[in-house]
Amino acid sequence: MVMTEIKKVAVIGTGTMGPGIAQVFARNGITVRIFDIDSEKLSEARITLDNNLELFRQAGLITEPEVSETRSRIQNASSLDEAVEEANLVIEVIPEVMELKTALFADLDKICDPGTILATNTSGLSITTMAAAIEKPERLVGMHWWNPPIIIPVIEIIKGEKTDDAVVRAIDNLIRKIKKVPVLVQKDVPGFLGNRLQYALMREAIALLNEGVASAEDIDTMIKAGIGFKFPIMGPLETIDMAGLDIYYKVSQYLNKDLDKSQEAAPVVETMVHKGDLGLKSGKGFYDYTGTDIKSLMGERIKKLLLLLKDLDYVE
Ligand SMILES: NC(=O)c1ccc[n+]([C@@H]2O[C@H](COP(=O)([O-])OP(=O)(O)OC[C@H]3O[C@@H](n4cnc5c(N)ncnc54)[C@H](O)[C@@H]3O)[C@@H](O)[C@H]2O)c1
Repeated sequence: MVMTEIKKVAVIGTGTMGPGIAQVFARNGITVRIFDIDSEKLSEARITLDNNLELFRQAGLITEPEVSETRSRIQNASSLDEAVEEANLVIEVIPEVMELKTALFADLDKICDPGTILATNTSGLSITTMAAAIEKPERLVGMHWWNPPIIIPVIEIIKGEKTDDAVVRAIDNLIRKIKKVPVLVQKDVPGFLGNRLQYALMREAIALLNEGVASAEDIDTMIKAGIGFKFPIMGPLETIDMAGLDIYYKVSQYLNKDLDKSQEAAPVVETMVHKGDLGLKSGKGFYDYTGTDIKSLMGERIKKLLLLLKDLDYVE
């Protein structure tokens, strides 16, 4: 495919992830059109955008004029056709349901210019299967942002079996331009890179809790003040190199066979889901949030993450 520089982007779906994705593009000079089949979601997106921009302004990460410029680069579209008009990239951020995504891509493939890149923010569905629903599968690529997208630096680029290398390069360039950090997932495996690593850790954490090895607080503290504390500086493979492959080899010989290998979701999780204990959104999960102001809890977490972004030089 012949690529032009990506200057205009359409973000389709403005639920949890869409508004933040639009904000990052717009903050970095890209014109964005946002669209949602639910007009209320589209209106709510503007409120979310304003709140998040204010948060960034308060943290000294953006000036008042930059807030206005960013806002003015984001336009609401009243139809899919209007949203994708002249877009060099269309990213779908609609629910994680294969049928919804393939139906949308089949429409997009028909209405978008042949040079328009089509991207999906899927957390782990097959890019290759999605691409099979369209006539130009080479233009479809995974572009997986992490929540909250205004903060988390990394974006996974997932190459489907037929994704054109030129499309991968164009997305890589774009991610650098919007001051994010690209990682390339060269094989379209379920869960890609981030969720595979994260779910391996979560599966073990739940198994340890279930077996009564430690409390939820101590399991989380082990990560926050221990293993996870060094992760922003050293990844797991760098950690093995630091410890020595011989040590890793010896420990894995006795430990690997004892690690959790469940093929299904843990029964305790299934029970909690059926009881409606869904975590923050229901007030109870592994922790009880009764009486906790969830908004301020999340606000505090975001503030700390913003400080980390600065300390780790992910923002100027
Ligand atoms: N929520 C997360 O933490 C997270 C993180 C990373 C990736 N993702 C992925 O991002 C995608 C979106 O997730 P979300 O949490 O933002 O979902 P969401 O349910 O919060 O929002 C989806 C939005 O898409 C809209 N929509 C549905 N069908 C549409 C269509 N055909 N055209 C236009 N709009 C449509 C809905 O009205 C809704 O507002 C999913 O693939 C998800 O796996 C989510």
